[in-house]
Amino acid sequence: MDNRALLKRVPLFAVLSEEQLDIVARVVVRERISKGREVFAAGEISQTLYLIIAGRTKVQRADAEGKEVILAVLGSGEYFGEMSLIDDQPRSATVVTLEACEFLTVRKDDFKRALTMNPELANVIMRGLVKRLREADMKIESLALLDVYGRVARVLLEFSELEGDRRVLRDKLPRQDVAKMIGASREMVSRVMKGLELDGFLVPQEDGSILLHESRLSNL
Ligand code: CMP
Repeated sequence: MDNRALLKRVPLFAVLSEEQLDIVARVVVRERISKGREVFAAGEISQTLYLIIAGRTKVQRADAEGKEVILAVLGSGEYFGEMSLIDDQPRSATVVTLEACEFLTVRKDDFKRALTMNPELANVIMRGLVKRLREADMKIESLALLDVYGRVARVLLEFSELEGDRRVLRDKLPRQDVAKMIGASREMVSRVMKGLELDGFLVPQEDGSILLHESRLSNL
């Protein structure tokens, strides 16, 4: 698939005209990064916006002792690296691949040119930032007001999909990563998930997925 066809799969650029898409397609660079690699680290000086074509990444921050918190998991069609391009500050977080990933990268100058070329693009970026702020608000609420059962339940629901009238968790979600999303230990997450399973809130399926009892989990 050529760059132009790949760009069309990224909602961020859906507002571009065919002509503008051609211009952007000429300047993007394709990049493949294997699983478990750092795309960039918090604090680095930034030059690039990343559009995810395939695979998932996690956005995280760590303290001086290496204790990590996962701020978000981003998948295909989403993008990252826009914040520091907008405010010219260092990278606000570290991004690590959770799977083998394919990206299209846009250099800072080309991104700024695209923004002036089509003002609607600035609107889409703004809506994207507001969405991230809303999700961050939910996370702050969860960390401040919910106990660890409620926090685990929220993460499981967030990563699940509705299939007919069943809510199913298909993504492989390592307990260590759940722990880093909610500020708990991996052992605590394992204990909570076992408890939720015993109480019938979670029902593991033969294919490795987990059936979730949405109404019961939402009330935790
Ligand atoms: P930037 O600061 O350039 O580098 C890190 C990127 O992670 C940032 O741009 C955003 O694209 C992304 N990011 C930072 N914080 C969040 C968050 N809370 N939710 C989703 N993505 C984020």
